[in-house]
Amino acid sequence: MIQVSPFNCTLGLFKAAANILKPNALMITYHPLAFDGVIEPQSNKDFDLELKSKNPEWGIRDLTDLKKIGNKNGIEFQQLYNLPANNNRRKISYPASERNRNFILNVLQEYLNPLQNGHVLEIGSGTGQHISYFATFFPHLKFQPSEYEENLFDSIKAYAEEVPTKNVRNPVKIDITTDSKTWNLETKLFDYMLNINMMHISPYNCTTGLFQNASKLLKPGGIMITYGPYAHNGVIEPQSNIDFDKGLRRQNPEWGLRDIKELQQIAEAVGMTLTKKHDLPANNKCLIWLKPGNE
Ligand SMILES: C[S@@+](CC[C@H](N)C(=O)[O-])C[C@H]1O[C@@H](n2cnc3c(N)ncnc32)[C@H](O)[C@@H]1O
Repeated sequence: MIQVSPFNCTLGLFKAAANILKPNALMITYHPLAFDGVIEPQSNKDFDLELKSKNPEWGIRDLTDLKKIGNKNGIEFQQLYNLPANNNRRKISYPASERNRNFILNVLQEYLNPLQNGHVLEIGSGTGQHISYFATFFPHLKFQPSEYEENLFDSIKAYAEEVPTKNVRNPVKIDITTDSKTWNLETKLFDYMLNINMMHISPYNCTTGLFQNASKLLKPGGIMITYGPYAHNGVIEPQSNIDFDKGLRRQNPEWGLRDIKELQQIAEAVGMTLTKKHDLPANNKCLIWLKPGNE
């Protein structure tokens, strides 16, 4: 509370504590702190500026000041515990990603080995919600998020910092329509690739680029898992998907549901094959694409 309220609220808090607490009782407060006029790290400095821009009376308080107020009210400072950063204001949350993540995870668990060391690349990580959620279930795999929109990097990092298994790397900028040789990847070949809800919400050359690059970046025997709504043999079903497709095309004529038949042709042209289709709730599918061969 103390950083998002005027300073007299902090004074009031200590006065109230002095009146209400029994002798030797504790008051525990949780908030970012300044130390002798210094706010660290940069993310806390930015937070302080953001607070002050919302209300000049708000801001991160200094421990020295809090100790003085405490002393005036007969409340002695005891102990400071450093806790992890509160990332909530950096994390963007898409409700759809919350809803579909367990359905997608169930499919991943059929293909990704939780005991295997290896590398996973996600194209179009969005907010970073999916990759950080999945990573905890496969602690031996290293997960590489990527995004075209660099303004989503902070959200991706905020989710990644909270992954207890520490196996999510910093996001890299990837425009899937460009050649993977130009991308700044630490790992050159991947065991798995993921692409969730991108193909229908991006121009067609993102779909062709996805397969072209996957064929180069996957190890022989590697697989790419794509998720989203699809057409099949020119048919979109049910009506809700037909309406969704129309809505997408109205927003951007280059968007729209992709046809599995066409995707198979694109994949085959680069030496990949569709090995399985999983029907998932809300008329979505996971498609499993294999780059054949043995490592
Ligand atoms: C609907 S969002 C899905 C994000 C995330 N995968 C999810 O399911 O929440 C589509 C994503 O595709 C990404 N995208 C669009 N054009 C792209 C491109 N040329 N290269 C890579 N990603 C692209 C967007 O930046 C966006 O994050």
